[in-house]
Amino acid sequence: MTTPDFNVTGKTILITGGTGGIGGAFAKGFVASGAKVIVADLAEPKEPNSRIRYETLDVRDDAAVAALASRVESLDAVIHCAGKLSRWEEYKPDVFKDILDIHLVGNLRLANAFRPHLKASKGCLINIASMYAYFGAPQVPAYSAAKTAVISLTKSLAISFAEDGIRVNAIAPGWIKTEISRGGRENPEFNNKVVARIPGGEWAEPEDLVGTAIFLVSRASKLINGVTIPVDGGYCAS
Ligand SMILES: NC(=O)c1ccc[n+]([C@@H]2O[C@H](COP(=O)([O-])OP(=O)(O)OC[C@H]3O[C@@H](n4cnc5c(N)ncnc54)[C@H](O)[C@@H]3O)[C@@H](O)[C@H]2O)c1
Repeated sequence: MTTPDFNVTGKTILITGGTGGIGGAFAKGFVASGAKVIVADLAEPKEPNSRIRYETLDVRDDAAVAALASRVESLDAVIHCAGKLSRWEEYKPDVFKDILDIHLVGNLRLANAFRPHLKASKGCLINIASMYAYFGAPQVPAYSAAKTAVISLTKSLAISFAEDGIRVNAIAPGWIKTEISRGGRENPEFNNKVVARIPGGEWAEPEDLVGTAIFLVSRASKLINGVTIPVDGGYCAS
């Protein structure tokens, strides 16, 4: 029996939304684990890390995604962490479409653009779902629909990209302390309901997701394909 290979040293990882909370934790975690990281985000990093390459990217922009793909030589993984929600605004069709564009179409755009890179490296895609993929969310109906669809897209891409040796999985984070979730955390009624259902009784840190992402990129997970892993402190179980 050989030791399972969790090593990501020397691998190159593209992280969209990598100046945000979860993407930022992934970026730092992969760098600390010996990987090279390219962060692609609309926003500039607040505290740039000299070991990370930063690219400005709007994941809604076909041409910008294609241009980035042409500037990136090789890649072992793409993690799509760019995200946004608009509480109570998503019933407007334009807002609904915009949210789908970022989370869902953006996912497909990145998958298509970086497929050749991932084919060459026998790499992987990691998509980001949510607890809202599993149940309705009246305050963010587009976000919830997009996240449910991300689970489905993950399965379809896993089957389709398997012929190129590319694995496609997703992580469904639980309740994580970042900017996107601030509105919920700061609403006492909403916050109390969430906390009451988390077996551990508290929101998690973005760093709590990093181990799962590293596992999914590493060879230790080579048989894992087309799945969405809830990393939620038991929220789905309760
Ligand atoms: N925080 C949570 O509790 C939670 C739970 C489940 C899922 N998620 C998901 O995790 C992912 C990361 O979210 P987060 O919690 O780090 O939020 P965050 O707000 O901290 O980060 C989101 C990042 O996405 C970037 N972004 C937004 N629109 C973009 C665009 N069009 N192009 C490129 N970049 C864009 C923002 O600039 C920001 O840096 C999102 O997909 C989010 O839906 C978060």
